[in-house]
Amino acid sequence: MNAQEKISLDEDWKFHFGHASNLDKDFDYSKTALLHKSNVFATTIVNPKFVDTTWKKINVPHDWVVELPFVKSEQVEMDSHGYKPVGGAYPETSIGWYRKHFTIEKSRNNKRFELQFDGIYRNAEIWFNGFYVGTNFSGYVGNSYDVSDYINFEGDNVIVVRVDATQYEGWFYEGAGIYRHVWLNITDKVFIPEDGIFVHSKVKGKNAEVTIETTIQNNNLKNSNCFVYSYITDRNGKILAKTSKQKVALGIRKDFTLKQKLNLNNARLWSLEDPYLYRVISVVKSGNQIVHQTKTRFGIKTVQFDANKGFFLNGKKIKIQGTNNHQDHAGIGSALPDYMQYYRIKLLKEMGSNSYRASHNAPTPELLEACDSLGMLVLDEQRLLNSSPEYVDQFKRLIKRDRNHASVFLWSIGNEEQNIQGNDYGKRIAQTLLAIQEDLDPTRTSTYAADMANEFKGVNEVIPIRGFNYREFAVADYHRDHLNQPLLGTEMGSTVTTRGIYEKDSIRAYVPDQDITHPWWASKAETWWKLAAQNDYWLGGYVWTGFDYRGEPTPYKWPNISSHFGILDVCGFPKNIYYYYKSWWTNEDILHISPHWNWPEKVGKPIDVWVNSNADEVELFLNGKSLGKKTMERNSHLQWNVTYEPGTLEAIGYKNGRKLTTKVETTNHATKVVAVADKTTVLADGKDGVVVNVSIVDDKGREVPVADNMVKFYISGDAKIIGVGNGDPSSHEPDKCADGTWQRSAFNGKCQVIIQAGKKIEDLKLEVKSNGLSSTVVEINQKNK
Ligand code: GAL
Repeated sequence: MNAQEKISLDEDWKFHFGHASNLDKDFDYSKTALLHKSNVFATTIVNPKFVDTTWKKINVPHDWVVELPFVKSEQVEMDSHGYKPVGGAYPETSIGWYRKHFTIEKSRNNKRFELQFDGIYRNAEIWFNGFYVGTNFSGYVGNSYDVSDYINFEGDNVIVVRVDATQYEGWFYEGAGIYRHVWLNITDKVFIPEDGIFVHSKVKGKNAEVTIETTIQNNNLKNSNCFVYSYITDRNGKILAKTSKQKVALGIRKDFTLKQKLNLNNARLWSLEDPYLYRVISVVKSGNQIVHQTKTRFGIKTVQFDANKGFFLNGKKIKIQGTNNHQDHAGIGSALPDYMQYYRIKLLKEMGSNSYRASHNAPTPELLEACDSLGMLVLDEQRLLNSSPEYVDQFKRLIKRDRNHASVFLWSIGNEEQNIQGNDYGKRIAQTLLAIQEDLDPTRTSTYAADMANEFKGVNEVIPIRGFNYREFAVADYHRDHLNQPLLGTEMGSTVTTRGIYEKDSIRAYVPDQDITHPWWASKAETWWKLAAQNDYWLGGYVWTGFDYRGEPTPYKWPNISSHFGILDVCGFPKNIYYYYKSWWTNEDILHISPHWNWPEKVGKPIDVWVNSNADEVELFLNGKSLGKKTMERNSHLQWNVTYEPGTLEAIGYKNGRKLTTKVETTNHATKVVAVADKTTVLADGKDGVVVNVSIVDDKGREVPVADNMVKFYISGDAKIIGVGNGDPSSHEPDKCADGTWQRSAFNGKCQVIIQAGKKIEDLKLEVKSNGLSSTVVEINQKNK
């Protein structure tokens, strides 16, 4: 057995709705005295003996909101939360009870036990074996609870969680429930706490000086001595440097933080192209026995923000090409399996994005792991600009949780606090939070996302990096007036587009899929990016948003249930603006024509054709006839007004003397479904999974751009479907098909199904069928690690 264990408690939970206003339906929660005595013996819901056998069996991550129907209502916050019946006005679907049983062998009775919840939305009260252990007010940053004194070594151990989502924290879809992982940490009584390691480094020429801060705690009821040392390995486990063994004497229930330094010769720096991660192994020994050993991945990098010259990573100038994102995805809401984090970050990275702003809350730990591994810088954000003990505690938990992540390069202390950002409250709160940040993480600095123009007051007076939400027109003036304060576009652009739609449609609530429409406070992609690209004093900026997200329908409301600010839709399917950003954010050859060429009702009528490309010149041809050659202005796009006739629209681009070609064709009617899995092999660990993207195509294999056929999914083998989506921001079809019949209509030619692996090593088959079309089978190999 290992010295310590981190055991996943994700499986086999029981779930039941409570009730926010009917006491009987809330399992008598407010009718029984749950806090009179320690350990509640009465037959209450928190008692271990309470019978939950009829409750719904679920695994976490679990978001109960994604399963609720869409409800048209004028209720406050309904639209912003995606028209889902959650919040105080929906008492019957806003309280969730969770129960989980497990056993612990008697032989472990000298250990320390800790429950770790990575994220529960929200206001979660937690009991363990009838003992109240704590409340986590935050829906975003997790918490841990020492439950050593309450373990039952003789039989059942029961965790009970009451989740109260009657109050919102944001103005966007937030989901509800235990939507991140749950762990049981078992350690010796002399141990390194969860956030007890802080690794940071200074680059000195080719070498790096790595500082390892190790906190050790003694929960024994006697003074304890231990020896502590650490070593750094490369990613293959080869030891590169080792500290001396240091004796640490710990009083009863005392902790101590040891600071040790190591030199790494020829340090391989963490960068966007080579996100190299070292490991620190921290060892605590008592006598000859290892009592705790942890592994922390870390990266070595230098970061410099220059108010005139811009941002430098490892001394190399980089423009921040960022996206803002909320955490939900099609089909699964905010309960993302880990592989979905990698899927989403990979899509952003492929577009050329190099930074992710976790707007406006603590991200899931596995998202940061994906960013560490894939090379994506993270702007890590605190939910609220508030320095009350509750929010200071949240901020400290956020920093201590995330400060070892190579990807995190900057903190954000808040976003658009219109009531205080320009006054003395905002300034004082910011100063308090900044002092806390500098204390807990002197290696980084902070920004704040202000929706203010050239205004130097409140938070802006004290924030090290001025963040601009929109108002890109004011950046130059602000820079002129404050030459020493670096500037970052914390929210930029914000074109609203519906994938594959080319005409404004106020009934279905769609907007054209081009860089045209934006809210009054925002701008087009080309407006902000040209300024950011051309002016060195811009560190860069973050587009609002990378992916569409549920809630905040703009500019329309119902039937629109999700936003369409995304460069990619909720499934991650690219919209046309994707090719604008990719043209100017990568060095790849890009040549993309829009719209599609299926317009039977428009023969003889004019159509605006857009070409997104980074070629120097582009010539457009309709059915072989040239429509003229145009020169591409950098950070721009080209447009032709073309009289429609069916056939082939072809573009030839010239880039550094090379020829690039692409075309769109009028397709025949749909004949077939095709499906592409993002990988061919999954691990039989019950957690891994695969995203399958479906297209409706014609007899020549060309995607039919207007197809809306209903597609059905049948899986065989030990796996399950966990969600479906199609990117239609006005679709009210279920993302979870409760009756087991999994289906989703295509939206403009595409839909998506998400599969989660089982635990048996057996091949999986996904049959994808649609009435009147020939079907397809996707085979996936399910294997052991
Ligand atoms: C910003 C805000 C974002 C989002 C966006 C929509 O003001 O910070 O969270 O609401 O507007 O345009």
